[in-house]
Amino acid sequence: MRLDRYLCEMNTGSRSQVREWIKKGLVSVNGQVITNANHKIAEGADNVVFQGKEITYRKYVCYMLNKPRGVVSATQDNTADTVVELLAAEGRKDLFPVGRLDKDTEGLLLLTNDGDLAHRLLSPKRHVDKTYRVTVEHPLLEADIRQLEQGVDIGEDRLTLPAKVEAMAENVIHLTIQEGKYHQVKRMLQAVGNRVTALERIRFGGIRLDEGLAPGAYRPLTPQEEECLRKAADSDAHSKEKHFSNTL
Ligand code: URA
Repeated sequence: MRLDRYLCEMNTGSRSQVREWIKKGLVSVNGQVITNANHKIAEGADNVVFQGKEITYRKYVCYMLNKPRGVVSATQDNTADTVVELLAAEGRKDLFPVGRLDKDTEGLLLLTNDGDLAHRLLSPKRHVDKTYRVTVEHPLLEADIRQLEQGVDIGEDRLTLPAKVEAMAENVIHLTIQEGKYHQVKRMLQAVGNRVTALERIRFGGIRLDEGLAPGAYRPLTPQEEECLRKAADSDAHSKEKHFSNTL
């Protein structure tokens, strides 16, 4: 891998910044200052140092995006902008979204190149928590909230798994679910005779949406967030509350 790309992928700086730093002689490889951005790096073997700090190689990366409305959760689309295009400045071709948010949903979406991590986070067996801020057309009644908490019929073989509901305002709830069926939140609210008018994901696998990220903005996960996410991906649904008897 080229030295400038290596530094970019390890989140040292943007492509133009790292090229400038290399030109200025701020980067050394195996103890030698390298001023050529095209210098080839053997990832994991060469010792790369920027301003006295070793930049160790990491194969996998994970970003938090505040997905804006109007953008599709895909790597390619013929008609609309994709979430992957929002990270184009990273210069990576291997990123993909961890699951999907609807085109009109905003909020926390993870993008990674780690297929195994994504697979485990999305596995229905893992029961990874996802929390949504849900705005609805009609005020929610206590009875609706109890129903959502117990599980509702959205036309599948089973009721939805019990959800956690926190009433935030007459028309706003924080809804935590452990499944990820197609349009699940919208179908759950429809099942109690309501309609979602705005939807934002605010938590995923123990990670909170960074309020400092404007819609469309993103950042790499912190090491603490990554650890939290990997724990969620490794969690065993059987050690959580059991929801399996929730049949129709
Ligand atoms: N549930 C929905 O209905 N839409 C989303 O985008 C996510 C969850």
